[in-house]
Amino acid sequence: MSGRKKGKVLAVSGKGGVGKTTFLALVLKTLIDTSKKDASKKYDILVADADPDANMADILGVEVPASVGDISMKMKENMHRIPLGISKDRYLEGLIFQILSEEHDFDLIEMGSVERGGCYCSLNSLLTRILDTLSENYDISLADMPAGLEHVNRRTQRDIDILYLITDGTKPGLKTIKRILEIAKKVKVNFKNVYIVGNKVSEKIEASLKKYAEENKLSYAGSLPYDSKVMEFSLDGENLLDIPEDSPAYSAVKSIVEKTVKSAGIEI
Ligand SMILES: Nc1ncnc2c1ncn2[C@@H]1O[C@H](COP(=O)(O)OP(=O)(O)OP(=O)(O)O)[C@@H](O)[C@H]1O
Ligand SMILES: [Mg+2]
Repeated sequence: MSGRKKGKVLAVSGKGGVGKTTFLALVLKTLIDTSKKDASKKYDILVADADPDANMADILGVEVPASVGDISMKMKENMHRIPLGISKDRYLEGLIFQILSEEHDFDLIEMGSVERGGCYCSLNSLLTRILDTLSENYDISLADMPAGLEHVNRRTQRDIDILYLITDGTKPGLKTIKRILEIAKKVKVNFKNVYIVGNKVSEKIEASLKKYAEENKLSYAGSLPYDSKVMEFSLDGENLLDIPEDSPAYSAVKSIVEKTVKSAGIEI
C-alpha cells in the first residue's frame, strides 16, 4: 500500500488482434519490474479487462471466479434475494469486490458480457461506474478496451489519463484509430493523453505512422518489433509476465512506458 491513490487510468484500444492485450500485459510487467528494483515505486495496480471477449486473465495466468457480466446476470435471476433496504447498485458493488482476483502484484477484474441475455442495468454504464469507483482504490488502473470503446458510452467521472492506440499501420488499422477518436469525442470521455503505438510494423510503416500522428496532432510513442518469444508464450499459454527481460517486445514497451507515463504524473 503506497497511500498515493490518485487513481490514474491507462487504457489501450485498437483494431481486433492488433496486440492490445499483449501491450497492456507488458506495461503491467514494466510497472511490476520497476517496483521490484525500487520499492518507492510500488504501485497498487488494477487490471480491468473491459473486452467482452476477455483473455487478459489467461495471458497473465490469473483464475477469474466470475465476470461482472456473470454476476449481474445472476443477480437479475435472483433479484428477490437482495436484502430489503439495499439498493441493487450497492448489492452489485458488494458482489464485485468478491470477484476481484487478488494477485501478488496486482488485482484483476473481468467485465465480461451481458449483452446476450440482457440485464437489469446496462453493463456499459455499470462498467463506467466500476472503473470510476474501483480505480479510486488503486494508484494505477490498466484497462483493456475493445476497439468500439463500447463500454465507455457516457461521461465518466474519471478522466482516462493515457489512451494507447495500438495499430499495425495498415489502412483498416488507421481507420479504426480514427473511429476510436471519433467515439471518444462522442462519449465525451476526457482522454488526457493519446499515444499511437505501432506493433509488428516495418520501418517504412513506422515512418508513415509517425507522419500520420503528426498530421493528426497525436503523439507517436514507439513500436514493438515482432517477437517470436511473445508468440511462443501465447501459443504455449504461458504467463506473459514471465517473458525474459531481454525480449525485444518487452524492451520496446519498457521504453514506451518510460517515455509516456510521466504525462499521467506517474513516476517510474
Ligand atoms: N510484437 C509481437 N510479436 C509477436 N507476436 C505478437 C506481438 N504482439 C502480439 N502478438 C501476438 O498476436 C496475437 C494477438 O495479440 P493480442 O491478443 O495482444 O491482440 P489483441 O489486440 O488484444 O486481440 P483481440 O482484439 O482479440 O483482443 C497473440 O497471439 C500475440 O501473442
Ligand atoms: Mg485482447
